[in-house]
Amino acid sequence: MSLPEMSGYDNVIKLALADEAATEVFAARLSACIQPGMVIYLIGDLGAGKTTLIRALLNALGYSGRVKSPTYTLLEHYEIAGLHFRHFDLYRFNSADEWEQAGFRDEFDQRNICLIEWPEKAQGLVPAADITITFEILSNSRNLGIRALTQIGRTCLKNLQH
Ligand SMILES: Nc1ncnc2c1ncn2[C@@H]1O[C@H](COP(=O)(O)OP(=O)(O)O)[C@@H](O)[C@H]1O
Ligand SMILES: [Mg+2]
Repeated sequence: MSLPEMSGYDNVIKLALADEAATEVFAARLSACIQPGMVIYLIGDLGAGKTTLIRALLNALGYSGRVKSPTYTLLEHYEIAGLHFRHFDLYRFNSADEWEQAGFRDEFDQRNICLIEWPEKAQGLVPAADITITFEILSNSRNLGIRALTQIGRTCLKNLQH
């Protein structure tokens, strides 16, 4: 299958994903461009495809277990292909104390790749993103905006486009 069409400049890529298969193609490509220590925000409404993208990313690296949004536990760990993933779903997050008590602060280090759904629910606590992926829901497809905010993010975006 061909890659989804990409357009954009240095810091932003816009992408139309026609269906879930296109999401999988993009995720496979992204999986080759991510680095330890990266923080990636996934922004979009319920059903926008945030978890689908994360699942496809892990699958592309060889993970075959279950990947489900950690809506109640807030955090799920995955170790695959020598990479350490932290998948946050902060939809139900609502207290700064919980952030400290759960030890979330320590998850953001040079090693972990942190993929965060609903980062806006923990504003001021979640470290800044290297990349944000914004999902727009269309009736049968999704539009993505991928933005780099740091040097490591820009390198990732550059690799995505080549
Ligand atoms: N590119 C796409 N085009 C159309 N439907 C998609 C696409 N990507 C994902 N979907 C569908 O949209 C839904 C997204 O659900 P999910 O990934 O759980 O959303 P979120 O985590 O953002 O709440 C799933 O039913 C999935 O099959
Ligand atoms: Mg989700």
